[in-house]
Amino acid sequence: MAQIFPKRANTLPILSLVGALVGGVVLIFLVWYYFSPEFTVVGYQPEQPVEYSHRLHAGQLGMDCRYCHNWSENSSYANVPPTQTCMNCHSQVKAQSLKLLKVRQSWATGEPIKWVRVHHLPDYANFSHATHVNNGVGCETCHGRIDQMKVVSQQEPLSMGWCLECHRQPELYLRPKDEITTMGYVQPADFVERNLATIRREGIQPPTNCSACHY
Ligand code: HEC
Ligand code: HEC
Ligand code: HEC
Ligand code: HEC
Ligand code: HEC
Repeated sequence: MAQIFPKRANTLPILSLVGALVGGVVLIFLVWYYFSPEFTVVGYQPEQPVEYSHRLHAGQLGMDCRYCHNWSENSSYANVPPTQTCMNCHSQVKAQSLKLLKVRQSWATGEPIKWVRVHHLPDYANFSHATHVNNGVGCETCHGRIDQMKVVSQQEPLSMGWCLECHRQPELYLRPKDEITTMGYVQPADFVERNLATIRREGIQPPTNCSACHY
């Protein structure tokens, strides 16, 4: 006896059910995305290829951020250090450690370690580390207490609203230039007055016009 419907048709109801479910999830995602106050990825914490800890190196050992991120003052881009920087110490310190195996392999082969990017702005937004660092915005203000993180995670939304909050009222955020890499900066009582004076003296004026951040 010939079947009227091909057997395949049995899968149709299941497919439409799956379709409805996926559609529902996409809809929830879109609603969540567009109606949250900022499009945050706060808390994003990818797994890294080496168990490198800022809590140990920047916290306990007290290393300055710029020992490794040495471009952050002079370039739009804050580099992640090359393997050479690690080997300055680890050719002697813990030279046999398994946790440093990938570092030694990278050193031997010349293949850079594949660190996973944590912070990411879309390409259409223009951002420079040097401008911010040299005008008194501390690493901590944008990246949080890196010195307490075993694994780096994103602390601030990096959304347009977040950028503009500071650009409209920089006096609430700036700090002296010698405190840029300080973690746990304590604001003096006359913090805002001091910042207002610096802003006036140095003519600091963060842009709020669209073309400054978007070409
Ligand atoms: C011994 C070298 C070293 C020191 C010192 C150091 N870092 Fe790092 N940093 C790294 C490495 C390696 C990575 C990439 C792996 C990771 O994300 O943990 C990194 C990643 C980061 C990231 C995430 C970058 C991204 O992918 O978006 C930030 C932010 C950061 N460091 C800030 C700091 C700050 C602030 C300090 C000073 C308090 C500091 N670092 C001190 C080596 C260092
Ligand atoms: C200024 C010296 C110095 C530099 C530069 C340095 N480290 Fe370290 N690192 C140390 C010290 C000290 C320890 C702790 C050793 C101990 O526990 O006795 C350590 C521990 C570690 C450990 C844990 C090892 C274990 O067996 O517990 C890892 C992983 C590590 N470092 C990765 C890195 C990476 C990756 C870099 C480069 C981005 C780096 N370190 C740069 C000094 C340094
Ligand atoms: C005004 C906010 C701000 C300040 C201040 C700041 N950062 Fe960043 N940082 C960002 C943003 C935004 C990104 C993502 C940049 C991108 O995707 O182009 C980032 C990315 C990074 C990265 C990843 C590599 C890169 O450049 O994309 C590192 C490492 C880093 N920052 C370290 C630092 C260190 C160290 C300091 C202090 C010396 C610092 N940052 C100060 C906002 C800031
Ligand atoms: C905590 C304060 C603060 C935050 C957060 C901040 N900025 Fe700024 N921004 C400044 C200051 C201060 C200046 C320097 C103004 C000057 O030079 O007169 C500046 C200058 C700029 C400039 C103009 C100079 C240049 O580099 O071309 C751009 C563009 C800019 N910021 C983009 C951004 C973007 C994009 C973000 C968010 C991802 C951001 N900023 C977040 C304080 C901030
Ligand atoms: C201080 C820097 C800054 C200024 C000034 C600025 N933007 Fe943005 N804008 C950003 C950043 C950073 C993003 C990316 C936000 C993200 O990744 O969520 C963005 C995202 C956007 C988007 C993408 C949609 C979205 O919200 O994600 C549009 C559209 C936009 N901006 C338009 C504008 C217009 C129009 C102006 C002028 C009224 C302006 N921007 C001024 C930094 C800025």
